[in-house]
Amino acid sequence: MSAEADRAAPTTDHLAAAWNAAVATVRGNIADFTAWYPDDTTTAGAYRPRTARDGQPEGANVGWTTGFWPGMLWLVWEATGDDAVREAAERQVDSFADRVRREIDLDTHDLGFLYTLSCVTPYRLLGDERARDAALKAANHLMDRFLEPAGILQAWGDLENPLQRGRTIVDSLMNVPLLYWAAGTTGSRSFLDAAIRHTEQLRRHIIRPDGTTFHTYYWDPETGEPLRGGTEQGHQDGSCWARGQAWGVYGFALGYRHAREESFLDAARRCADYFLARLPEDRIAYWDLVFTDGSGQERDSSAAAIAVCGLYELADHLGDQGAASRYRAEADAILDSLATSYSTAHDPGSTALLLHGVYDKPKNVGVDEGSLWGDYFYLEALSRRLRPDWRSYW
Ligand code: GLY
Repeated sequence: MSAEADRAAPTTDHLAAAWNAAVATVRGNIADFTAWYPDDTTTAGAYRPRTARDGQPEGANVGWTTGFWPGMLWLVWEATGDDAVREAAERQVDSFADRVRREIDLDTHDLGFLYTLSCVTPYRLLGDERARDAALKAANHLMDRFLEPAGILQAWGDLENPLQRGRTIVDSLMNVPLLYWAAGTTGSRSFLDAAIRHTEQLRRHIIRPDGTTFHTYYWDPETGEPLRGGTEQGHQDGSCWARGQAWGVYGFALGYRHAREESFLDAARRCADYFLARLPEDRIAYWDLVFTDGSGQERDSSAAAIAVCGLYELADHLGDQGAASRYRAEADAILDSLATSYSTAHDPGSTALLLHGVYDKPKNVGVDEGSLWGDYFYLEALSRRLRPDWRSYW
């Protein structure tokens, strides 16, 4: 490299330092998080044991976010080869195998988030058959949520619940990779068909003509007719919830990775272009994209971390096109801002990796806090940037 080119080359030293700080925090959490699962978000910047609910004790493996902890452990183990980290991650397989065997809190589409990271990943990395068996059980439960004739996976609640029946949400796109994996490992076409049909229904109906997304969308469960969009965690039914848009970027890009449908790649680009167009000065989205600088609203750093992973994934599928370099440069800028101003790299007292996220502002839950998914996707984003040979868990 010429001296001039060398001077111009971006340095990743600050990201390597941020990665080292994050790894130290993950290692420091192992003893506690093996004894109990942390809550979805921090409280005043630190994780506490998961609240007791639905007959399960405090710290139990319930809810949609517990799989992000083993996900973080696998990212750290792959980079460091540290046996203590691998052992901690393998212990997680026991808990997730037990959860699916005893059918604890499975009435959700979030089985994809939960079992891709906790069980598909150790099966892929280490050939753990017990993990494969648990992940396949979870994939079969997810298939029970595939509604005919609508061709969608119901997101939340019991299938007989009239308020939830026929409803799905943009986040569901991240649960679909469990079905692609199940199709590949079993050779069964039904998993693949459900994955593609669900993604196609979201592409058609959850993305609005201007490239924004609804958070949730309802279908008539009897006729399959698409009915209406709305929100649950966004500012208004007609606004664009930032994390939902980020799930759209990453979820449609992953849909393209697995199904090779060009329309999924185009959907990911439309979601990305709107997300990027609404970023404020420091590139970290406000919790709903209707807000920007001067609004006095909170950022959602977790949406930023998810978007970074989605933009890198999207760029990988665009080959040499100029758009690929643009999406990569945008992702780099967001990640730099996260590492510099939103991570706990300079705040060794926190048990989170990333602060200043929003879980659910309308319900005032987890506002301006860290979250397990924010931490996971921040670590994945650093892995993608610093370890170009990292192979996706999704
Ligand atoms: N998937 C739930 C959320 O993003 O809040």
